Amino acid sequence: IKRIGVLTGGGDCPGLNAVLRAVVKTAIVKYGYEVIGFKDGFKGLVDNKFVKLELDDVSGLLDRGGTILGTSNKHNPFKFPVNVDGNTEYKDMSKRVLENLDMFGIDCMVFIGGDGTLTTARDLMKMGIKGIGVPKTIDNDLSGTDTTFGFMTAVYTATEAIDKLHSTAESHHRVMILEVMGRYAGWIALEAGISGGADVILIPEIPYDINKVAQKVMERKNRGKSFSIIVVAEGAKDVEGDMVVNKVVEDSPDPIRLGGVGNKIAAEIERITGIESRVTVLGHLQRGGTPVPYDRILSTRYGVHAVELINQGKFGMMVSLKGNRITEVPIEEAVGTLKTVDPDGELVKIAKSLGVGFGD
Ligand code: F6P
Repeated sequence: IKRIGVLTGGGDCPGLNAVLRAVVKTAIVKYGYEVIGFKDGFKGLVDNKFVKLELDDVSGLLDRGGTILGTSNKHNPFKFPVNVDGNTEYKDMSKRVLENLDMFGIDCMVFIGGDGTLTTARDLMKMGIKGIGVPKTIDNDLSGTDTTFGFMTAVYTATEAIDKLHSTAESHHRVMILEVMGRYAGWIALEAGISGGADVILIPEIPYDINKVAQKVMERKNRGKSFSIIVVAEGAKDVEGDMVVNKVVEDSPDPIRLGGVGNKIAAEIERITGIESRVTVLGHLQRGGTPVPYDRILSTRYGVHAVELINQGKFGMMVSLKGNRITEVPIEEAVGTLKTVDPDGELVKIAKSLGVGFGD
């Protein structure tokens, strides 16, 4: 191995730069490899937009949010958007990727991304590209690893929001609803809800009955607590399976619509309880900014391990955290099936022991 390539794909996430820093430093300092960074995810791999990454390029990156390489969730090489007479058509450009890597003498790739990016990476590997995956997503919904980097930062941001909502909720005797991200999974809502002391946590894995949510709010009122905090995951749905839809999530093999459920809950809670309710949609604040120390360390461990696997010639793997140990799993095992919250799992039970309502 002489030259390795790296790209960041899908939605951005705190810790991407920390992974890049660890990959570049380990590759250059420990093994003497050259590192080429492709710009804007798979787009750069198809369009040949890249930059040689030197030690200076990754200096000071540990605490910087986003990705210096840029990212995109709309440029899958197997369905690549091309402009034909002013119209967008989708073409299979995967062979171009192979040609480009060959042309620039790139021996292997590090793909940093979530389920969409790693699924594409897996398909490119089936065509002969040597690659390693690094699990990224604030949603923490990738199988094959206990934790993805970026998740803890999102939980931290959401927890801070809950803390702030507490004081204003209490002053105004209101129900405050915080809608958080997470797509199909309730991890951010669950963990931020527990760490912020939410009264109700609504997640996609446990369909909620709005009357039970209202009952919880009323129980608190009857105990003299004139305010309540509800944390709701954007993918939460009620027992009728009614999911509010107002946002298309595109970098998924099966694009779905999510978000806006907080407004629906606020209106219903106010109608049923008569208590004034307000909504905060945390949105992309959860994805921006500096990674918390946990994510800086996890990103660094992942980046270093990715290069170690390259050195060992162990391709087709995704780096992974199992317990407190960094290891690797075949990328095949990591993609396709999302890791969602177990409704009977320990964290849900703990929250229920404290009296947190899930609307079930
Ligand atoms: O997968 C990360 C995530 O932030 C989800 O939590 C959210 O549903 C989605 O991406 C938002 O995507 P976009 O940046 O395209 O709005």
